[in-house]
Amino acid sequence: MADPRPDKERPESLGFATQAVHAGNAVDAGSGAIRTPLVMANSYALPEDPSELSWSGFDVPLYTRNTGANQRALQQKLAHLEQGEDAVVLASGVAALHGVFFTFLRTGDHAVVSDVTYEASWRLFADILPARYGIEATFVDTSDPDAVRAAMRPTTRLVHTEVIANPTTRVCDVAAIAEIAHEGGALLSVDSTFTPPPLYRPLADGADLVVHSLTKVINGHGDAMGGAVIGAREHIDAIRAEAMVDVGGVVSPFNAWLIARGAITLPLRLRQHLASAQRVAEFLAGHPDVAYVAYPGLAGHPQHELATRVLGGRGYGWMLAFALDGDADLQNRFVADLRVITSAVSLGHDESLIVHVGTTGARAARWPDEFRRHGHLRFSVGLEDPADLIADLDAALATVRG
Ligand SMILES: Cc1ncc(COP(=O)(O)O)c(C=O)c1O
Repeated sequence: MADPRPDKERPESLGFATQAVHAGNAVDAGSGAIRTPLVMANSYALPEDPSELSWSGFDVPLYTRNTGANQRALQQKLAHLEQGEDAVVLASGVAALHGVFFTFLRTGDHAVVSDVTYEASWRLFADILPARYGIEATFVDTSDPDAVRAAMRPTTRLVHTEVIANPTTRVCDVAAIAEIAHEGGALLSVDSTFTPPPLYRPLADGADLVVHSLTKVINGHGDAMGGAVIGAREHIDAIRAEAMVDVGGVVSPFNAWLIARGAITLPLRLRQHLASAQRVAEFLAGHPDVAYVAYPGLAGHPQHELATRVLGGRGYGWMLAFALDGDADLQNRFVADLRVITSAVSLGHDESLIVHVGTTGARAARWPDEFRRHGHLRFSVGLEDPADLIADLDAALATVRG
């Protein structure tokens, strides 16, 4: 009978917070250090007869573009946290998206893609993949499974969506989309950057590949860039071989080390992000000068019930979109008056970040009317005291009202 005790040598026996601390960490054989050390080396010692080694392999430490101590540690941690078979870590979230799209799509293939996604995913499917590689994409509302089914073609090889879409916060029923993708012989890739574990695990709902920008909440401290794809080993190895070894999208050991350290506190940080975002969203939604608030935790959000079902009531993320009732100049004056919340891109950092996003162009044409009518402030709720965040927003709202 298997030993029922939790054991850090068997991360699968551990609860999520314990895994976040221990998975991927090991006593360093050389120094005896109890933390996986930062290994800033490009190359590793070769065996006596290296002539049989594959220079494009990634099983034996050889060269950091193939594998390295810190990538391995982070990959192990992420595979455990997402409960996937394997993980590959890359230089950025976009490198991870590239890894999925370029590894699994060929000329003549078709993809069904959410019509609300992070900008680089949109641009890759709207411009680069069709124009340079002859890969066509149909953009659809992935909160509507019928729209996804209708867009499938015999040549569809990939369906790609976000769980909570950047920037509108539209929510997708991953299980329903996975069924449709698989019926059509396609893989489902899910960008889960807005919904890291333990909030959600797309693999458990049938996704084949989970993408994270590690730059965001998994690292959580705004000091490193990275990306990951988690899924079945055969898929992950294909991405590793092409996107990392042959194309070179490798993460630096230092960034992998920083991200592994940041991920230790993911469960604690996420709890605070989720609680604070709910309070801040409710405050904004109740303010007479706020035109709209998009946050799946609000009862008025169009997919509030779907979000509750998909995310199991554990929370609704920490990303909000809202605007003041006014023009672009008013949004800018409001942001300029904030004293705690920082105007900067990115999200999921310890500090709250707000950015006034433009609403012109083909990508924004897919956003809800209110986004285009009033503009759009993308707000990543950070780890500050929620009372300070609300006081900051309240004061700036009063200032611009004059
Ligand atoms: C949902 C989502 N996916 C991917 C990315 C890209 O990640 P990175 O900036 O690490 O390349 C971002 C960045 O904001 C994002 O919001």
